Amino acid sequence: AKSLKVAVLGCGAVGSQVVRLLTEQADDLTARVGAPVELVGVAVRRLDAPRDVEVPEGLLTTDATGLVSRDDVDLVVEVIGGIEPARSLILAALENGASVVTANKALLAEDGPTLFEAAAKAERDLYYEAAVAGAIPILRPLRESLAGDKVTRVLGIVNGTTNFILDKMDSSGAGFSEALEEAQQLGYAEADPTADVEGFDAAAKAAILASLAFHSRVTASDVYREGISEVTAADVASARDMGSVVKLLAICELRPGPHGDQVAARVHPAMIPRSHPLASVREAYNAVFVESEAAGQLMFYGPGAGGAPTASAVLGDLVTVARNRLAGTRGAGESAYADRAVQPMGET
Ligand code: HSE
Repeated sequence: AKSLKVAVLGCGAVGSQVVRLLTEQADDLTARVGAPVELVGVAVRRLDAPRDVEVPEGLLTTDATGLVSRDDVDLVVEVIGGIEPARSLILAALENGASVVTANKALLAEDGPTLFEAAAKAERDLYYEAAVAGAIPILRPLRESLAGDKVTRVLGIVNGTTNFILDKMDSSGAGFSEALEEAQQLGYAEADPTADVEGFDAAAKAAILASLAFHSRVTASDVYREGISEVTAADVASARDMGSVVKLLAICELRPGPHGDQVAARVHPAMIPRSHPLASVREAYNAVFVESEAAGQLMFYGPGAGGAPTASAVLGDLVTVARNRLAGTRGAGESAYADRAVQPMGET
């Protein structure tokens, strides 16, 4: 069969694992997709940067724009992160007829509708399971498995760095700065930890979760956000005295309003009773607790960050969009019909 040609944009922690899996599992992927899946290019900023993977000879390029405009590329994987150049490259890839898989939560949360409209216009797939909670399959269940049910609330521990810090404070009595330093030493927190500790990363993920759970369009600016930098050792100790634990939660809810149900999304530190399943989420793990009318309560748990776990979710999407492409169809990457109002930030 004709091979499906894949371009990967970015070769950092996630991208290098995507390249590794594409190379090492080429035979299995071919069997699962029904046609050879062939890596034809990897766009990077610097050709000589140190990398976790050996990229096959001749595939590295610094010309990402050139790579996405090649007319033989079927599938584009965007794992650069951030808003630009990721957005322009995704739009160019769709316009050029490629299907796209991305892990870019910040971009989806800020400007998802632009991307979804471009995908719809191009009649191409745009999939992004890896954007929320790394390896944990949570977007597909919300979009598909639970699409016939009515999800009423989603509670997520969706940032590994802050969960590590709060868990450390809880188990050792450490203060915030000391726990943050340990998270940085272990490579969880970035040198600039703002996006994690101030809740921006979790708010982006909350916007994506709320959009899919409630068939709505929620962007990062709709999400109330408060981080964990003000949480003290005394706060954690008093929660402990009350049989609770402090977690940074992404809370997405459907609330009855005067003109039908409304969606509200927020991120802030919250006290959870130790008996709640989310209280058992330790270290840098993630979990998403879903409440729905018919299914009741479900919890999705696992590694929410890291190169290989995130690459696992990317590859799963790649298999789906490759199959769709061979079948000449497209899937419901968005499944948001903007049929619900979004409650503005703060009015919770
Ligand atoms: N910085 C994120 C976290 C990585 O700590 O969870 C994945 O988005």
